[in-house]
Amino acid sequence: MSWTRKHLLDIESLSAHEITTILDTARAFKAVGERAIKKVPALRGKTVINLFVEPSTRTRISFELAAQRLTADIVNFSAEASSLKKGETLKDTARNLEALNADIIIIRHSASGAPHFLSRFLKASVVNAGDGAHEHPTQALLDTFTVLEKKGKVAGLNVTILGDILYSRVARSNIWALTKLGANVTLCGPSTLVPKIFEKMGCRVTHNLEEAIANADVINLLRIQHERQRRSMFPSLGEYTSLFGLTKARMQKTKPDVLIMHPGPINRGVEIDSDIADSSHSVILEQVTNGLAVRMAVLFLVNGGKGPQEVAA
Ligand code: CP
Repeated sequence: MSWTRKHLLDIESLSAHEITTILDTARAFKAVGERAIKKVPALRGKTVINLFVEPSTRTRISFELAAQRLTADIVNFSAEASSLKKGETLKDTARNLEALNADIIIIRHSASGAPHFLSRFLKASVVNAGDGAHEHPTQALLDTFTVLEKKGKVAGLNVTILGDILYSRVARSNIWALTKLGANVTLCGPSTLVPKIFEKMGCRVTHNLEEAIANADVINLLRIQHERQRRSMFPSLGEYTSLFGLTKARMQKTKPDVLIMHPGPINRGVEIDSDIADSSHSVILEQVTNGLAVRMAVLFLVNGGKGPQEVAA
C-alpha cells in the first residue's frame, strides 16, 4: 500500500503502515541529505507557506529547510506582522494565502483542531506543525525515527514519557505513534499533570519516578507547558525538579544504554540536569537533525508522493 493522504493532521488517524511509510521515506531523504548535492526537484514549482501563529525555532526552520531541499518556494508568515493583528480571521487568512497559489500550508496554532478546520475548506494540503495541546505529528515522527535509528526497533521497547503530559501535544502524538508500532509506553509526572485517564490511550500511568525510569530503554522528557496552564499544577519549579527532574543521581538507576530524548526547548536544571542533556545518552540534537528528513518526507508525501520507492537513489 502506498501513501494516499492529502493532509497530515495527526498521528491518531494514521495506521502503523502509514507511519512506517513516512519513516521509510524519511530514511531515503536522510540519505539524500548526506550527498554532496542535497537538493532534489521533487517540489519544483510548488509553493509552501509556514503559517506559524505560535513561536517556534526547530519546527519552523526545519520545515523551511525541508521545502528548500525539495526545491519548493517557501514563504514564512509572521503572525505578529500580519493582518491577524487587525482582526482578520484564521479562515480568511488561510483563504488569502491559498489565493496566492499555496500548494501546502503548514500551520502551528494555539487552538487544538486548527489544522483540521483549515483542511475542511482549503484545496491546499494542510500539515499540522502543532495545535494547542492536541498533536504535534512531525515531532512524534522524528522522535520515532530517532528511536528506530538508535535501537533498531520500536516494538517491545519500554518508552517512558516524563513530565507535563496533560498539556503536551508532543506526548499525545508520541503515545499514538509508539503504541501503534508496538512499544510499551509509560507516562510519569505529578498526578495533576499525568491523570489516569491517559491509560485509555493504551499506555501505563505511574507517579513513581524511580519505577518509571528503572526499566526504560528510552526516556523522553517534556518541559512544563506554562503557556497552556491556566493555574499552577504544582507548588514550585524547585519542587517539580526535586520530585520529577532527571538528575545525575536518578540517572545512575537507569539502564546503561538508555536513550535520553527531549523535543526542545529544554529548561536546563528543571526537567533535565544540564550534564545529562549534553551526555552521550542524549540524542536531543540528533532528533533535530532527523526532523529535516522527516519533514521532507511529509511534504513529499502530501504533495502526491507515494513512498520511499519514489525518492531517487
Ligand atoms: N519541538 C518543537 O516543536 O520545538 P519548537 O517549538 O522550537 O518548534
